[in-house]
Amino acid sequence: MLNAPYLKGIDPFAAAVRSITEPDPVHAALRAAGPLVQVDAPAGGRAWIVTDNALAREVLLDPRISKDPACAPPGWDRYTAGLEQTAAEQPSLTTLDGPEHAELRRAHAPLLNAQRIHEQSDRIHAIARKLLTELAADRTETDLMAGFTTRYPLTVLLDLLGIPLDHVDQAADACGQMLSNQPGAQGSAIAALAELAASGLGDNRQGLAAELRDRVPAHTTQEQLRYHLFALIFAGQLTTDAALGTLIAHALADRPHQPPADEVSIDELVRETLRQHPPAPFTLWRFTTTEIELAGTRLPSRAPVLVDIQGINTDPARSPGPDLAFGAGPHFCIGAQLALLELRAVTTVLRTDFPRACLAIPFTELQQATTGGLQGSRLTALPVTLHG
Ligand code: HEM
Repeated sequence: MLNAPYLKGIDPFAAAVRSITEPDPVHAALRAAGPLVQVDAPAGGRAWIVTDNALAREVLLDPRISKDPACAPPGWDRYTAGLEQTAAEQPSLTTLDGPEHAELRRAHAPLLNAQRIHEQSDRIHAIARKLLTELAADRTETDLMAGFTTRYPLTVLLDLLGIPLDHVDQAADACGQMLSNQPGAQGSAIAALAELAASGLGDNRQGLAAELRDRVPAHTTQEQLRYHLFALIFAGQLTTDAALGTLIAHALADRPHQPPADEVSIDELVRETLRQHPPAPFTLWRFTTTEIELAGTRLPSRAPVLVDIQGINTDPARSPGPDLAFGAGPHFCIGAQLALLELRAVTTVLRTDFPRACLAIPFTELQQATTGGLQGSRLTALPVTLHG
């Protein structure tokens, strides 16, 4: 039996700032070490990182590997590890496994499938157009990371869920607070977003929040339903926000030699940007529920396992085929269709309504930063001139 190589001194979870053109060297180092690599986990002990595409897909389908934080190594501090409550304390798509996860997934899936999201296409384009037009009004340079990338996905989500749009600022503040290290900040941000989500559940409200209420399993409490809505808002904002920055930077980088604004080339730009700069560089934590063998290595029960999405997506030896930007298996991103439409919509609107938009600083001067842990990178600023 082999032992997975241990990469001492390599910290995949460190905070960092680097240029948009500079790849994170950690992913190449992990990949070079082998298909399964041991590193020091932020909450103590070892973690196992999967760097091989085929092995990753096996792991993401393996019923012996759980998402329930109850299976985390004994002694792991929930806050240091960035874990949710256990599935027993707070059942959610991201903490449940097996039939209970599948049941909750069935309640959500029809609301966010390709057909339902396609029906919202005009509305989503209109939101992108309205927000960009407001920002363009004073004809000066504007930072889209400050004024657009958080606001746009939140406006879309609140609109879809049937939550009044005058809550957007409050939602943006709470999403920001979710990333704070201050004690209690995360708990109060979850409570604020869950409370705000409840305003989509009033008798006269129409939208996906009310539809989800009518579809969740009968044993779901009000508090659990609100948490499901919180999870959609937070998961939908965090990732799309980061993706928008990188996408818009790439879309504007080649002006005035822009490719034609046809749907195929826009879709390729979106997919390629997500592949190379996945907003979730790793999956969320998973834990072995029993001793298992992976890539010839014996992992103990309660071993923490991650898939290196970014490393696998950017592997020069990667064979053609679907990438892992939205994960794989039963926990594949439930908001993928929505995210793709939001990203395509903004690219289209920029090209059709703001044909002279350009970066206000050279592309290579854009900086990306991560706050560490499992967080992906986000541009620190994206100064653009919308009227060129
Ligand atoms: C570009 C944007 C997005 C990216 C890159 C992304 C990425 C991911 C990834 C990689 C996973 C799987 C995590 C794992 O297996 O551990 C995931 C799950 C999830 N995503 Fe997204 N996501 C995006 C947008 C969204 C949006 C817009 C929503 C909400 C509408 C959303 C809601 C969720 C939820 C609820 C899960 C958990 C699903 C489950 O465990 O069954 N995501 N996402």
